[in-house]
Amino acid sequence: MIVAEGLTKRFGDTAAVSDVSFTVQPGKVTGFLGPNGAGKSTTMRMIVGLDRPTAGHVTVNGAPYRTSRAPLTEVGVLLDAKAVHTGRSARSHLRAIAATHGLPKSRVDEVIDLTGIGSVARRRAGKFSLGMGQRLGIAAALLGDPQTLILDEPVNGLDPEGVRWVRQFVRYQAAQGRTVLLSSHLMSEMSLTADHVIVLGRGRVLADAPLDELVAAWTATTVLVRTPRPSELVEALSTAGVTVTTPETGVLHVEGVTAAAIGDTAAAAGIPLHELTPTAGSLEDAYLALTGDAVEYRTADVTDPHQEQS
Ligand SMILES: Nc1ncnc2c1ncn2[C@@H]1O[C@H](COP(=O)(O)OP(=O)(O)OP(=O)(O)O)[C@@H](O)[C@H]1O
Ligand SMILES: [Mg+2]
Repeated sequence: MIVAEGLTKRFGDTAAVSDVSFTVQPGKVTGFLGPNGAGKSTTMRMIVGLDRPTAGHVTVNGAPYRTSRAPLTEVGVLLDAKAVHTGRSARSHLRAIAATHGLPKSRVDEVIDLTGIGSVARRRAGKFSLGMGQRLGIAAALLGDPQTLILDEPVNGLDPEGVRWVRQFVRYQAAQGRTVLLSSHLMSEMSLTADHVIVLGRGRVLADAPLDELVAAWTATTVLVRTPRPSELVEALSTAGVTVTTPETGVLHVEGVTAAAIGDTAAAAGIPLHELTPTAGSLEDAYLALTGDAVEYRTADVTDPHQEQS
């Protein structure tokens, strides 16, 4: 369990993290989301004592990480996968870290196998591709078989097989009762991986909720309805709070009322339905709605060049 209370970090005039409080529960994968510069990495660095909070405090399993006598067995961290001695092989890099905790060489071989870098383990880590380096960083985080995993953008640069492996691996770790905090900007991947999400924006907590609750709260469920008598159904549904759009003839997109209520209304009016499909919003929709005002580095709108010419 990770508990942050009033965590604050200023770098000169920059308020990187402002009065952030949260609890990361064991037995769940907690996704850490937020726009670029929101303060995710800074928060993670404070959790493991690499940045000293300006105010507030954070504990891992009840104590500050710095006081842990065998930190690798307590917390596995991936913050910057490039933080390796470039001239050393992946294997000697891992062996050097393992030696600080008296972990056996067999454990090094295990994490090399687990992360799939066996064929390159004797090569210089400085020559690794982005994804290979990322796998090496994950291997280092796993060395001490820790109760808590903190992974900053672990799937960044991984190929699809690696992305899926990370997803399955962290879900398995959480199922075993471990605490997992991971950041990522890949919303579709996060929606498959996380049980709970904490969203930061400009250094503050914007949301801290189970993934499905967050999506339900920040997106509208649209019900797709297919009927041969659309105008009668629109008429029957026309009450306050219900919006209906007609993307094509015979198809309605209805917001503001449940699929069950639409079915009941149609039945009462004797209107046949050929399809009734509720579609929940996505994590990406919820995230964009939630962080709209907190984005610091906004990109320009992309207009379809074909439209511009006409
Ligand atoms: N060592 C530092 N010195 C000065 N400012 C810093 C330092 N580290 C981070 N910052 C600033 O703190 C803010 C938060 O940065 P942080 O790296 O925590 O964001 P992030 O949420 O991890 O973003 P990203 O999604 O881009 O990784 C940014 O404004 C950043 O410029
Ligand atoms: Mg970051």
